Amino acid sequence: MSTNDAMSFGTIGAGEVAQTIARRAIDAGHHVILSNSRGPESLTDIVTQLGAGASAGTVAEAAGADIVLLAVKWDQVPEAVQGVSDWSGRIVIDATNQWDTVRNAPLDLGDQTGTERNAALMPDARVVKAFNTLNMRLVAQNPSSRLVVFLAGDDADAKSTVSTFANSMEFAPVDIGGEQEGRLMQFSTGPLNSLHVVKID
Ligand SMILES: NC(=O)c1ccc[n+]([C@@H]2O[C@H](COP(=O)([O-])OP(=O)(O)OC[C@H]3O[C@@H](n4cnc5c(N)ncnc54)[C@H](OP(=O)(O)O)[C@@H]3O)[C@@H](O)[C@H]2O)c1
Repeated sequence: MSTNDAMSFGTIGAGEVAQTIARRAIDAGHHVILSNSRGPESLTDIVTQLGAGASAGTVAEAAGADIVLLAVKWDQVPEAVQGVSDWSGRIVIDATNQWDTVRNAPLDLGDQTGTERNAALMPDARVVKAFNTLNMRLVAQNPSSRLVVFLAGDDADAKSTVSTFANSMEFAPVDIGGEQEGRLMQFSTGPLNSLHVVKID
């Protein structure tokens, strides 16, 4: 990707998923703003480790990026997203999985998908489910493998932008449909869960 195509990429959460995708984004020439609940100062070591292209900010600052990654535990989502006053028009990658940490089991949301639940907490955000099916340890071990990233969401433009972003990081994006189709990606019940596929072009 040329420097002209560089995007700003904000992460809400700065754990395993955020750091793994941030690494790929930085290597592709994007600028990353990481955030967590404890404030930018707590991220100094992680930012130093990621190197040039990485910075730390508040949740609101991360959410101001061209693309925002939601990468907190399922039960942390409501508190994490409430720090942003206006979600309208923002492109959000939802990488979360609906896991009940108390029962240590997947949550049954009935007819609702995980992304529909999260999208309702971010009014008018353009949410794309992605990266949640991948094991981040394997992603980190295979930095340029054209690993397939499934995308689900109702906003075609947002999916197209996320697709371009994923391609720039040498993933192979595959659009599986709208928010409802996102159930195919759900952990641990969806058929695409934990499926690591490499695309041969
Ligand atoms: N690990 C994987 O391989 C993997 C793969 C696919 C999907 N997922 C899903 O992706 C999500 C993130 O997983 P993870 O493994 O990256 O979790 P993690 O390592 O526990 O990271 C969670 C991050 O969220 C931050 N956080 C917690 N509360 C917050 C708040 N209110 N506002 C902002 N940040 C907050 C935490 O930092 P502070 O506590 O310091 O705020 C931490 O940096 C989960 O839903 C998980 O199911 C994980």
